[in-house]
Amino acid sequence: MSVQSTTRRLTTRDISRLRERGEPIAMLTAYDCVMAGLLDQSGIDMILVGDSLGNVVLGHETTLKVTLADMIRHAAAVTRATERALIVCDMPFGTTIDPDTSLRNAVEILQQTGVQAVKIEGGLAMVPTIERLTGYGIPVMAHIGLTPQAVHQLGGYYTHGKATEAADRLLREAKALEQAGAFAIVLECIVPDVAAAITAELSIPTIGIGSGPGCAGQVLVINDLIGLNTRPAPSFAKPRADAARLVRAAVADYIAETKAAALQTRAGAA
Ligand code: KIV
Repeated sequence: MSVQSTTRRLTTRDISRLRERGEPIAMLTAYDCVMAGLLDQSGIDMILVGDSLGNVVLGHETTLKVTLADMIRHAAAVTRATERALIVCDMPFGTTIDPDTSLRNAVEILQQTGVQAVKIEGGLAMVPTIERLTGYGIPVMAHIGLTPQAVHQLGGYYTHGKATEAADRLLREAKALEQAGAFAIVLECIVPDVAAAITAELSIPTIGIGSGPGCAGQVLVINDLIGLNTRPAPSFAKPRADAARLVRAAVADYIAETKAAALQTRAGAA
């Protein structure tokens, strides 16, 4: 007799239902099977295999060097380790240059990894791409505000939507991306009142990061949540643990024990 898992994986319809019921949506990033398994066991709704992989795991300064192959390798590990969470994979820099290329790359991501959806950074310019992918049956999470793939054009990492025109543009972009078929939209580093206003105007869920509590859900980089960093986390992250301290303490203990044991062995042999 085979033992079958009774856990059902959440779908984009489940995420829409959470939004309809006004139930906040919790999302975190993960890049490997151990962390993804732990998040899944903890009941997270969605896991993002973000291209923050570049900074967090691969040690790059920006996300621009992350490749499709990098994303596929890590997204496949995350999918293998999870049963319940909806998995979203970022489309990295250079893979969304036009709608047809984006469709080919998104198909490859879904086929090679088993994720349920992709995330695409960008505003109005991404409308035809999102129409193309969703028209083909691929769920897309949009992403506006601070879009790290455009860091060189933006000139840095900062809060968006401070001026009235900028806030109006973000709202126009969000509506257009919803209209194009996105099932959810990340609002990154947007003035909280503007993010709340966008959330009120849309029927798809907004997933905020550094954009205040007025979004339909929140996403964070897992390392920032648990304090597993060698650099300070962004100010909005509010780490709930100090995993870096635990690691340093365990490693220091191991080094001390190993060296003490070696010295004892040598002393005994002398
Ligand atoms: O790559 C990423 O982790 C992201 C989140 C910060 C939203 O895009």
